[in-house]
Amino acid sequence: MDIKNELAIRAEAAEDVVCRFLPDVEGYQGMIFDAMQYSVTAGGKRLRPIIMNETYVLFGGQSDIIESFMAAIEMIHTYSLVHDDLPCMDNDMLRRGKPTTHAVYGEALGTLTGDALLNYAFETALNAYDAPDADPAAVTAAMRILARKAGVFGMIGGQVVDVESEKKQLEITEDKINFIYELKTGALIEASMMIGAALAGATQQQIELVESVASKIGMAFQIQDDILDVEGDEAKIGKPVGSDERNQKATYVTFAGIDKSKEEVKRLTDEAIKELNTLPFKNEFLNELLNYLVYRDN
Ligand code: IPE
Ligand code: IPE
Ligand code: MG
Ligand code: MG
Ligand code: MG
Repeated sequence: MDIKNELAIRAEAAEDVVCRFLPDVEGYQGMIFDAMQYSVTAGGKRLRPIIMNETYVLFGGQSDIIESFMAAIEMIHTYSLVHDDLPCMDNDMLRRGKPTTHAVYGEALGTLTGDALLNYAFETALNAYDAPDADPAAVTAAMRILARKAGVFGMIGGQVVDVESEKKQLEITEDKINFIYELKTGALIEASMMIGAALAGATQQQIELVESVASKIGMAFQIQDDILDVEGDEAKIGKPVGSDERNQKATYVTFAGIDKSKEEVKRLTDEAIKELNTLPFKNEFLNELLNYLVYRDN
């Protein structure tokens, strides 16, 4: 399988889905719609909606109902990046190969664009109830996962401890790093896979298995992100190299060193794929994709 090519096809399809749900640029508040579009369409790998859809397919899902949640998760992910780049957070000027949202629209609009994408994500996900084949209980389960994993017990919680740990590299413990990564990055990847499973009618036990798989993938994904922050190519990653060092971030790489970090990315990925394959269903593309994330250079 040519994974890069297969991934590019799916990324384009996922981008079309997200864009279809974005509001048109019109009205007195038109500039917020413009900034939302700018942030979402700037590029991005679209991994979360892709992983969501592939998990949905893995569990036999076949309807378009998944699309409103694919759009919602990418909006929430994009909002997390727009806020993460703000001067009061990581203070970065480049994202997805373009100037960050606050760099183009100013800090106030940058903040509001994040807020807008978060709120609009829930407005978008609610569309799933209107689908003719909607199972209201499954949609509610998916809404609960989305809300929980994006919030203070999920991504936001992780970002809180991340920013609070800045300039405290000497005090950081492995336990705390794991906590930060599981939440700030793991939670939205968990949500992606769990929502795919829940909407396809997976059992509670299967949803929990998928949560455990996604948690390991999330951890590996963030460690790889930290490795790329040290030895990546700015032109490929589309964001500044050395941001973590500038902000004196406590990362897995500063904690364990680059070699141990690379080993850990591989170990976690292998474990996650092994666990996923204990299910009685197979999705070859999903396996390949999870494996590919270890070797990504962007
Ligand atoms: C970046 O996520 C933030 C992290 C959680 C490491 P991605 O690497 O998925 O960013 P995009 O969506 O491709 O820009
Ligand atoms: C942020 O981690 C993860 C988010 C929840 C946004 P980073 O701060 O390392 O993400 P990048 O490197 O800016 O994409
Ligand atoms: Mg950050
Ligand atoms: Mg950052
Ligand atoms: Mg980073």
